[in-house]
Amino acid sequence: MMKSKSLKEIKNRDQVSTLVHTFYEKVRKNPVLGPVFNGIVDDWNIHLERLTDFWEMVLLHSGPGAGKFSPVPVHKEVDEKMNHQVHEAHFSTWLALWFETLDSLFEGEVAEYAKQHAHKMGHILFFKIMEGRKLKL
Ligand code: HEM
Repeated sequence: MMKSKSLKEIKNRDQVSTLVHTFYEKVRKNPVLGPVFNGIVDDWNIHLERLTDFWEMVLLHSGPGAGKFSPVPVHKEVDEKMNHQVHEAHFSTWLALWFETLDSLFEGEVAEYAKQHAHKMGHILFFKIMEGRKLKL
C-alpha cells in the first residue's frame, strides 16, 4: 500500500536540523513572532545550531546539548527585552507553528513527543515569566 504522504519518523540529527530550520523560517516570517526573534537573535547560524542541539538532546537523547540550556532565565530575559510585553498569543503562535511544522514533515512517536514537550515547556515558561513579573512589583 502506498502512503499518500511520505512522512518519516525522527531518527537522526539531520532530521532534527531540518525541523528546526523549517520552524524558524516560519517564525521569522510570522507577524506575531518575527519582530521578536529578528530583534533579539543576531546570529541565526548560532541560534539554529544551538536549537538543533537542544531538540536533539530532548528527542534523541544524543548530541552536545546536555547541561547547556536554561530556558527559564533566557525567556525571562526575552520578556525584559520586550518591556514585559510577552503574552499568551506569543506562546499559542509558537506552538501552532511548531505543530504545523512537525505535521508537515514527520510522523511517529518522537514527533508526537516533540509536540507534547513543547506544549509543557510553553506552560512552564509562560508561568515563570508571569511569576517573575509579579515578584518585581
Ligand atoms: C512554547 C514553547 C517554547 C519553547 C519550547 C522554546 C524553547 C527555546 C529554547 C530551548 C531556547 C534556547 C535557550 C538557551 O539558549 O538556553 C529558546 C530561545 C529563545 N526563545 Fe524560546 N521557546 C518557546 C517559546 C518562545 C516564545 C513564545 C518566544 C517569544 C516571545 C520565544 C523567544 C525566544 C528567543 C528570542 C530566544 C533566543 C534568546 C537569545 O538567544 O538571547 N520562545 N527558546
